[in-house]
Amino acid sequence: MISKDTISKIIDAARIEDVVGDFVSLRRRGANLVGVCPFHKEKTPSFSVNPARNIFKCFGCGKAGDSVRFIMEHEHYSYPEALRYLAKKYGITIEEKEQTAEEIMAQNERERMFNVNTFAQTYFSDILQNDNEGRSVGLEYFRERGFRDAIIKKFQLGYCPESRHAFADYATQHGYAADILVKTGLCGSYENRLYDRYYGRVIFPIHNLTGKVIGFGGRILSKDKTKAKYVNSPESEIYNKSQTLYGIYFAKNEISRLDNCILVEGYADVLSMHQAGIENVVASSGTSLTTEQIRLISRYTKNVTVLYDGDSAGLHAALRGTNMILEEGMNVRVVVLPPDDDPDTFVQHNPIEYVTKYLTDNAKDFIGFKTNLLLKDAQNDPIKKASVIKDIVETISVIPDAIYRATYIKECSRMLDVAEQTLMNELNKILRAKLRKQMGGNAVQEEQQNTDIINEPKTQQQDLTPKETEMPAGFYQEQELVKLLLTHGSDTIEIEDENGEPEPFTVASLIIDDLKGDGLLFKNETNKIIFDAFDRGLDEGVLPNAQTFTSNENQEVAVLAANLLSTPYRLDDWERHRIVVKKEEDTLKQYVLSSILRFKDMVVEERRAAVVKELQATDDPDEQLILLQKKKKLDDIRKRINRDLGIVIAK
Ligand code: CTP
Ligand code: MN
Repeated sequence: MISKDTISKIIDAARIEDVVGDFVSLRRRGANLVGVCPFHKEKTPSFSVNPARNIFKCFGCGKAGDSVRFIMEHEHYSYPEALRYLAKKYGITIEEKEQTAEEIMAQNERERMFNVNTFAQTYFSDILQNDNEGRSVGLEYFRERGFRDAIIKKFQLGYCPESRHAFADYATQHGYAADILVKTGLCGSYENRLYDRYYGRVIFPIHNLTGKVIGFGGRILSKDKTKAKYVNSPESEIYNKSQTLYGIYFAKNEISRLDNCILVEGYADVLSMHQAGIENVVASSGTSLTTEQIRLISRYTKNVTVLYDGDSAGLHAALRGTNMILEEGMNVRVVVLPPDDDPDTFVQHNPIEYVTKYLTDNAKDFIGFKTNLLLKDAQNDPIKKASVIKDIVETISVIPDAIYRATYIKECSRMLDVAEQTLMNELNKILRAKLRKQMGGNAVQEEQQNTDIINEPKTQQQDLTPKETEMPAGFYQEQELVKLLLTHGSDTIEIEDENGEPEPFTVASLIIDDLKGDGLLFKNETNKIIFDAFDRGLDEGVLPNAQTFTSNENQEVAVLAANLLSTPYRLDDWERHRIVVKKEEDTLKQYVLSSILRFKDMVVEERRAAVVKELQATDDPDEQLILLQKKKKLDDIRKRINRDLGIVIAK
């Protein structure tokens, strides 16, 4: 773990214009620098860098943050990886935090597993390239399959000798302990003797996102059907099959650049495609795709093209996994290869121009593809056709985006020759059933949601910054206060006391003491974290500065802070309330006081609505009376708030 000290050193040293400048060409515009956003396609620059605040923000796609965040987004690094990158750039030595004995054990174990994997990979590659058996058996096999030296080296392919103990003995001689050799699955243990798991097999190392070897696949060379074609590493602390995609380390940049990921089945498919120069390719390694694998892809692109072998049995099996990709909000396209080809043979046997043209010409939208395929099976059988319709609508229903769903309904209505409204009714039935399941049968809520089921917002929020219109009531009011804390928390304003004497308060104390005095809390967790930090700051006498938030380890806090600091106060708001801008300080005072009041007004309004609902639900006269009194009290508070608001604004 990187020590807190080192983290602040790195954050202090990193200049946002420097860090971004390595990737984006920036031009000065006023106090800021602007450039073309590296995170979305655009022609006119809307990507802005603010050196004073040390943050970036794209007004096109909404991405925002500090230097660490930029590197995380741009290089797809984790937080510690981004810190290490910046430390290197600025020549800062990383001091690791002292760890607990348990942490050290766990860390060491992982570290030791990575080490032995690297050691093994080097050994297997060395045997393949330089050993007699390795060359005549392993290398010869790869060459026969059409793999050239460059791709063999790039993917660090290898060979494990026939003798069952060659690697085990070599590793033991070099001081690698038995427990770690067994844990990584490189060796097995039989009657206290280690033996090689992959003996007599060619080796495909499996790399994680950062290029570390986390596991191996070993392919048998003979056609012996009694033995497994592939032997793979067992699951371990560093290898989780369902979270891994073969080739992702070598493909990620190209996936990002082309905004598309090609998905194939096997190791050989990935190698042949890369060798042919198509590098946005990864493999699910034979298992059906998992949600984690899809999320891994979705860090780089929303578009997946699945390549299927041409045989029809495979096609039908393949259909099964695909709903999951749609569920994650990805756009899925399908290419069916000619009969008897898999991606490996197809790309090896055809010129690259033909391959790329074939892929472009034959990429079909998944839902259209599935509809066609099922329709062909159903022929003119009306019962089969009815079940096809159900199946297709079910598939459409997993798409999180309502607009896409509507588009598909239209398209399928044409293909299936069924009225659009019929499909829509069927779709709504399925959606409603899902909703009911989600809510455990809460009728009231269901009623409310049913009405706009067609227009429900995306359930997937890629951008960490919530869109105003999609936020729950009160979020906006909360955010205005958070923004004031961040931008003006330690500024002072003068408020008159009972005797009319002006007394200075910090903006933070005005907001926090006022809200706490009334027992009011923020609802949004991220807002709350910032509120609490200022609250503690008031207690301790040192208010946090904005950078503690933009550089926060909690990425949601970091992104929110960067966003709030980058967007100007909503001028329309100032104008709508006809605030005459006098002195800046007066303006600030008005804004603080009115923001507090608007927040309270929202809370009271919400409580009032709850009381009204209770009133409608009860027939008990006593209860009604109590509720009516409650309502009256809340009405009075609202009146007072609005009167105060009027006074603040009129001033
Ligand atoms: N696989 C596996 N274990 C097996 C068979 C397959 O792990 N016994 C995985 C491998 O990752 C393999 C993928 O499933 O790459 C696809 O299987 P298959 O199509 O049989 O293998 P190919 O990759 O096409 O291998 P080859 O071309 O070398 O036969
Ligand atoms: Mn194959």
